[in-house]
Amino acid sequence: MSSKETHKPAVQTTGHAWDGDLQEFNNPLPRWWLWAFYATVVFAVIYWVIYPAWPLGRDYTKGLFNTITYETSDGRQVETHWNTRARFLREMQAARAKQEQILQRLAGVPYQEIAADRELSAFAYSMAKVLFADNCAACHQSGGAGVAGLYPNLADDAWLWGGTYAEIEQTIRNGRRGFMPSFARALDEQQLDDVATFVLSLSGFEVDPEAARRGGAIFNGQAGGCYYCHTHEGTGMTSQGAANLTDAVWTVARVQATAGVEANKEAVKAVIRKGIQREMPAWAGRLDDTEIRILTFYVHQLGGGQ
Ligand code: HEC
Ligand code: HEC
Repeated sequence: MSSKETHKPAVQTTGHAWDGDLQEFNNPLPRWWLWAFYATVVFAVIYWVIYPAWPLGRDYTKGLFNTITYETSDGRQVETHWNTRARFLREMQAARAKQEQILQRLAGVPYQEIAADRELSAFAYSMAKVLFADNCAACHQSGGAGVAGLYPNLADDAWLWGGTYAEIEQTIRNGRRGFMPSFARALDEQQLDDVATFVLSLSGFEVDPEAARRGGAIFNGQAGGCYYCHTHEGTGMTSQGAANLTDAVWTVARVQATAGVEANKEAVKAVIRKGIQREMPAWAGRLDDTEIRILTFYVHQLGGGQ
């Protein structure tokens, strides 16, 4: 650098001078700012050409080279200049077409395929949550936890009517009638006591073995005939909706692991004495086939389906 340049004045002037010493400073705008400004000008001009921009009396410039095609509600294809309404309609249509396509697949493919396909299962799941809340949660509670004694828990692994896709679909489509006769007349108090003791022994309660032995004879004999629906082993029968009595899952009897044997025996006795009559309503006709399939998939997932 030469020494001359280092002595340049701090601020450049334009070289003009008035009244002898009145000078005009020259402070140019920064380069980057200037270029950015030019760029916005260029952008604005391009934008005005392509997009609707300038008012023209009652009309406005529509923009060039930029059209949107969408379908009207009566199925006509309409091509129009770019505008946000048309863009919104087109996006809605694309979403609806996609949804339509997914619903069609949900209606047709086997359940296993829904489970294996992430997009399908996520869609089914989110739709099912709404369907379940609207139609099922009033009885089965949100999340399917049920109400002890009234509505079975759908989120556990115990099924009255079976936990395969086909069985669950059947349950929802046609409804189910859970029926066990009352034994108030067939059995006396001692027999009720004994058979209830036997039932508790099936799911692992420590009970009087002699009473349980007598109860077992009633359960598997003519007096009780319980085996007829619950099988000799007490494992239940999904064709009858007869509960598995060996799994320590109680849907009707108010048996609690923490309550004593005596209290639980009373709870079981109450059920045997009174019998059971409850109904799962049928949904065919109220929900369409796809909705029933979606709910079947959902309930199967909730309860560790089989
Ligand atoms: C009015 C009350 C009520 C409503 C509403 C209801 N359910 Fe049920 N549901 C029941 C009852 C009661 C049972 C038990 C039937 C029995 O005792 O066998 C049941 C049983 C079931 C079962 C069989 C459970 C098993 O262990 O096998 C399934 C699955 C089921 N419901 C699903 C649904 C779905 C899905 C909906 C909604 C579309 C629904 N339920 C709506 C009352 C209801
Ligand atoms: C006609 C068929 C039938 C016969 C006979 C029968 N049951 Fe049941 N039992 C059922 C059905 C069905 C259920 C489940 C009903 C439901 O959940 O809606 C059930 C439920 C029960 C429950 C409640 C289980 C729970 O999870 O809370 C007990 C306890 C029981 N049975 C004991 C007996 C005993 C003991 C006998 C014989 C004295 C007997 N049952 C005879 C059909 C029968």
